[in-house]
Amino acid sequence: MSLLPRVVVLATGGTIAGSSSNPASSAKYQAATVPVTALLDAVPALAAVARIEAEQVAQIDSKDMSFALWSRLVERVAFWSVQPDVAGIVITHGTDTLEETAMLLHLACVGTVPVVLTAAMRPSTSLSADGPLNLLDAVRVAGHADAAGKGVLLVINQEIHAGRDAVKGHTAAVNAFASPLAGPVGYVQDDLVRFARIPQGLPAQALPLPSVWPQVEIVTSYAEPGRVVVDALARAGVSGLVVAAAGNGSIHQSLTEALADAAAAGVAVVRSSRTGAGHVAIPALPRPSSGIFVSAGDLNPYKARVLLMLALAATPALARDPAALQAVFAGN
Ligand code: SIN
Repeated sequence: MSLLPRVVVLATGGTIAGSSSNPASSAKYQAATVPVTALLDAVPALAAVARIEAEQVAQIDSKDMSFALWSRLVERVAFWSVQPDVAGIVITHGTDTLEETAMLLHLACVGTVPVVLTAAMRPSTSLSADGPLNLLDAVRVAGHADAAGKGVLLVINQEIHAGRDAVKGHTAAVNAFASPLAGPVGYVQDDLVRFARIPQGLPAQALPLPSVWPQVEIVTSYAEPGRVVVDALARAGVSGLVVAAAGNGSIHQSLTEALADAAAAGVAVVRSSRTGAGHVAIPALPRPSSGIFVSAGDLNPYKARVLLMLALAATPALARDPAALQAVFAGN
């Protein structure tokens, strides 16, 4: 008889580990209260799917995600990836910042051992809690031979998404996650794991994590924005700004001027879109003398910020080289 795959579960908290005295409410509960051992015990079917080891890496509401925890997660993934016989790694996470962590791991954890994030929209004590099935499905995917070499994945609501592409698009629904342009890469139905395609844009090489994280903030373009926020951030010495621009990367004139001044002072400026889907085109320059505002492609502002932080940490000179920074975004 063949051995079941060895799968490691790294727990970080979130609603999947949440609990409430009111099972009928999906809002009144506390995230990150149930230990990983109890989450696993609640799913006896796991015993027929994998040999599981678990580590409680953190117990937080993911709204409070930190650079320190990101670094720790990357370190634990690196550790477990090279242990003999580990088929895959599952990370339980809160949904609120999952798309950022997924982007970080996509860039920083490159290897063949699958890294599968999972989460839940309803706490573990809720009526129709979605966490137990999501956890079971994530372990099924992590231990599946076809998941190897597919990069960082998210398994939720019976869908498999590329970590680079997955975003949260609903406050409460169990189908809150989607990959807006690309669609899911596969699905899980009971013990059937099917990949419809290989995720696009898998990095050939991992980006190193910063020892000091560059400060990159997000600003938004909307009707009649003042320049006060951009000016204050530039004065505070930020390394980069991601603009949640309107439509296809359009930025209000007054904000454009403030951003151009920031860019001229050495702040990297990247345009993403606040629409939630689509590529940001590379248009004619608003003020050629002040440099190009780099397009984030199809990355939303939060994912673009993660890439910008890692890129600037690895190569600070990118802040004054928009063409080279554009190439980084085009390649990721
Ligand atoms: C969190 O992100 O930790 C809380 C919300 C959730 O997991 O859905």
